[in-house]
Amino acid sequence: MSSYKYLVLHENILKRYFCKLLFAYKEVFSSPPWNAQLSDERWFDAVYERTFTKVDEGFLGSLAIDEFDNVVGFIWGYPLKFEGKVRKMRGVDVPRVLKLLNRYVRQGINKTIYWAEFGVVPPQQKKGIGSALFKYWAKIAKGKGYHIVAYRTINPVVEKIVDKFYPKTHRKHLFKDPLYPERIWSIFYL
Ligand SMILES: CC(C)(COP(=O)(O)OP(=O)(O)OC[C@H]1O[C@@H](n2cnc3c(N)ncnc32)[C@H](O)[C@@H]1OP(=O)(O)O)[C@@H](O)C(=O)NCCC(=O)NCCS
Repeated sequence: MSSYKYLVLHENILKRYFCKLLFAYKEVFSSPPWNAQLSDERWFDAVYERTFTKVDEGFLGSLAIDEFDNVVGFIWGYPLKFEGKVRKMRGVDVPRVLKLLNRYVRQGINKTIYWAEFGVVPPQQKKGIGSALFKYWAKIAKGKGYHIVAYRTINPVVEKIVDKFYPKTHRKHLFKDPLYPERIWSIFYL
């Protein structure tokens, strides 16, 4: 039987697993429903930018590792505002999103973490890894003092996983993303 371990993605783990993470990330996002086609250099830049450049800025991530020490899943997020500064992020209009989110997050934006990315490599999907990784990460986020997770997605499997752990009364679908209107911003309470 396969066994997986779940790790906090702090800087040393990121250094150790970066190549394997890059491999897993490319495998996930070059597959449906995303089908992204990027050069190797751009895949590298995408993962580097979303992880290494954020480690000192509230980055909160986890990895799922298989018995062969390969990365089979990843999840991470960051606060949208860090130490009072609005984060700059590729693909997210952070100032507009913050303005819209502020109407809903009464606990304060400082208690809110943006759940940015989530993936399990296609051959290992539907085995419960995504659910376990999500549960592991959400527990760490709560332990760090976050009250709310904000996210946007087009993938109904993500909603299904949130549904498994957070009752509908703990969730809200809020507004269309300013840049990608097919993606709906939602929050749930940890
Ligand atoms: C979202 C994702 C991480 C889920 O990972 P996973 O390891 O397959 O998740 P789980 O095995 O824990 O599945 C959770 C539930 O969803 C169901 N599910 C998983 N993939 C499914 C699919 N493609 N279609 C329908 N149901 C699916 C599972 O059967 C399971 O249901 P259950 O709890 O009733 O048994 C994975 O599908 C993925 O990497 N998708 C592509 C990347 C992506 O869209 N990421 C999110 C946006 S950033």
